[in-house]
Amino acid sequence: MAGLFITLEGIEGVGKSTALTYLEKLLQEAEIEVVTTREPGGTSLGEMVREWILSGIHGELSGELEALLMFAARSHHIDKVIKPALNAGHCVICDRFTDATFAYQGAGRGTNPEFLRVLKQAVQGNFEPDLTFLLDAPVEVGMQRIAGRPTDHFEQEATPFFERIRKFYLRLAKEHTERIITIDANRPREDIERDLKRYLCQFLEAIPLRDG
Ligand code: TMP
Repeated sequence: MAGLFITLEGIEGVGKSTALTYLEKLLQEAEIEVVTTREPGGTSLGEMVREWILSGIHGELSGELEALLMFAARSHHIDKVIKPALNAGHCVICDRFTDATFAYQGAGRGTNPEFLRVLKQAVQGNFEPDLTFLLDAPVEVGMQRIAGRPTDHFEQEATPFFERIRKFYLRLAKEHTERIITIDANRPREDIERDLKRYLCQFLEAIPLRDG
């Protein structure tokens, strides 16, 4: 497969959207075609799942049900958006992907990781991002940054939920240094952007875009 698949992860309020816009700009300046997308979302099915889950109109959901919905949407997203763009040689930047399911439904909700691994294998086999930026900041910093805006289904959770997620993400990054780069997001924007640029450039030099 050609192209480059980059994902962004982290708890709420760590600045993923700002980082995504910045990475998109850098890649465009390097004359690389970029497709930006998000999960849940990215297709009509994904956006429906997003709206339904985040709205909270359903009341309590089990982690298993959340995971099933995330993977159903992801299956469509991979087939209809991500793989076609990569096959066309584009760079795809996705705001969250499968790591988020292991973090939120697994570590956050306590869903059996084996259940998640079976779904992952069925939906994506060994398809993984080439590069993942984990934006990390203390939970209270993330919570302060989102304070004042209306909260969704996940944002209504209490601090320990996000502490479990943050801890899981940091552990995952240590286990997958070949793909996950942790960025300290509790710093001024210029410092974060400088790191994003440095790591992206290093990565592009080390692994030039595959040309199909
Ligand atoms: P966000 O993309 O605006 O941060 O919102 C998406 C929310 O969905 C966020 O709280 C994390 C959650 N989520 C999961 O729980 N599992 C998943 O697999 C994904 C992709 C997102």
